[in-house]
Amino acid sequence: MFTSVILAAGMGTRMKSEMPKVIHRVCGKPLTKWVIDASKEAGADNVLAIVGHKADMVKETLGEVCEYAIQSEQKGTGHAVMQAVDFIKAHKGSTVILNGDTPLITADTINKAIEYHNSEGNSATVITAILDDATGYGRIVRDNKGDVLKIVEHKDATDEERKINEINSGMYVFDSESLVGALSELTPNNAQGEYYLTDTLEILLSQGRKVGAYAISDNDEIRGINDRVQLWEAEKIMQERINKSHMKNGVTMRLPETIMIESDVTIGADTIIEPNVSIKAGTTIGKNCVIGEGTKLDKAIIHDNVDILKSVILNSEIDEGTHVGPFAYVRPNCKVGKDVKVGDFVELKNSTIDDGTKISHLTYIGDSDVGKAVNFGCGTVTCNYDGKNKYRTTIGDNCFVGCNTNFVSPINVGDNAYIAAGSTITEDIPSKTLSIARARQVNKEDWTDKRNK
Ligand code: UD1
Ligand code: CA
Repeated sequence: MFTSVILAAGMGTRMKSEMPKVIHRVCGKPLTKWVIDASKEAGADNVLAIVGHKADMVKETLGEVCEYAIQSEQKGTGHAVMQAVDFIKAHKGSTVILNGDTPLITADTINKAIEYHNSEGNSATVITAILDDATGYGRIVRDNKGDVLKIVEHKDATDEERKINEINSGMYVFDSESLVGALSELTPNNAQGEYYLTDTLEILLSQGRKVGAYAISDNDEIRGINDRVQLWEAEKIMQERINKSHMKNGVTMRLPETIMIESDVTIGADTIIEPNVSIKAGTTIGKNCVIGEGTKLDKAIIHDNVDILKSVILNSEIDEGTHVGPFAYVRPNCKVGKDVKVGDFVELKNSTIDDGTKISHLTYIGDSDVGKAVNFGCGTVTCNYDGKNKYRTTIGDNCFVGCNTNFVSPINVGDNAYIAAGSTITEDIPSKTLSIARARQVNKEDWTDKRNK
């Protein structure tokens, strides 16, 4: 039970971007969304993000996942938290302060810091790390008993203080009431003329309250992102976390360093993911599947025992035992049944394909409803667009569609119909009918000899 306040008002100049830094993405998820999710996973009841630079764009990207406060002018980290005073006052207990550009922080670390904070009876606990190179960070100044005295910013530090390698991560646990009190006493008397949140520690100590530091073990968790190189470094770490968690759940990954899986993906046990696969957020994969090399899945629902090779599946559902690819393109809004074959160079769009149907090669099926156990010959095309409107094609169960058939939709084909190869179908076909829609063949004998004369 705690409240979380996330600082996300900054511009992020070094990203060299039209987009605010805090909504750049790591593994498909905006930086600040990672921090919000870690807070919630740790048990935050109320989360607020302080936004400023392009606030509307930030709010729209993150959505209604937390409350927002606006800091229209950036006058320092203390000033940022002041914008959340009403929110902090409304929720008793602890307030955890996090940064919107530090996506690798985990729920586990937040919980451990809170536990430490509570067990020590602190008014404020700063999360710290020991770095080889502390340049740029605020330093943790302790007395000779090892108690925290204050945090001094790099710019304000003496040469002696700059030698300290314990740094302020910029994340804290505060007793909410104490925090509100200390914020009201902040002044901008420092090198940058800013209201430093870090000064609240000294203020609390001067009030006779207890202040402490919680040192984390994994420095990666406090990596802040300032430019695209750091974005890439964070993504590598996050991707490794995601891939390892799937492996621990029973997923085999071959050359996992080439496999990109975004957040919010579920994969069943005994599924094998081959190299160079990209799986976007919102995808679900069942058990015992093979996701073959070079495949891209975006918001796909893949049931058990499906195998897919070098194919793209967007916003569509593939049922059990179906085989897809190589080089199939399943565009949005398709529902493919059980034990279907979607073979090489097959494109599907906005269509339902029922169980047991075989679409083996070089075929386009768009805006169609196909029944069970239909066999498509090579090169079938639904002509679903007349240049103005789109129309549907409906094909019943157990039909046989000869090679190189065109369906000029709208077309309805009944069950158990046969279509001769090379037919261009412009009219509905009743069930159990053989339809031949092509010019009769003419053989002109000895024609070559006559031409050569
Ligand atoms: C801050 C800490 C420093 C710590 C470092 C860790 C202070 C005074 N210093 O320094 O001790 O080592 O973080 O990274 O707190 N922000 C706002 N509004 C503002 C100012 C900042 O929202 O007016 C946000 C930024 O967008 C960023 C975060 O607060 O997400 C930290 O601000 P930043 O300017 O990077 O602080 P530092 O100077 O790095
Ligand atoms: Ca910073």
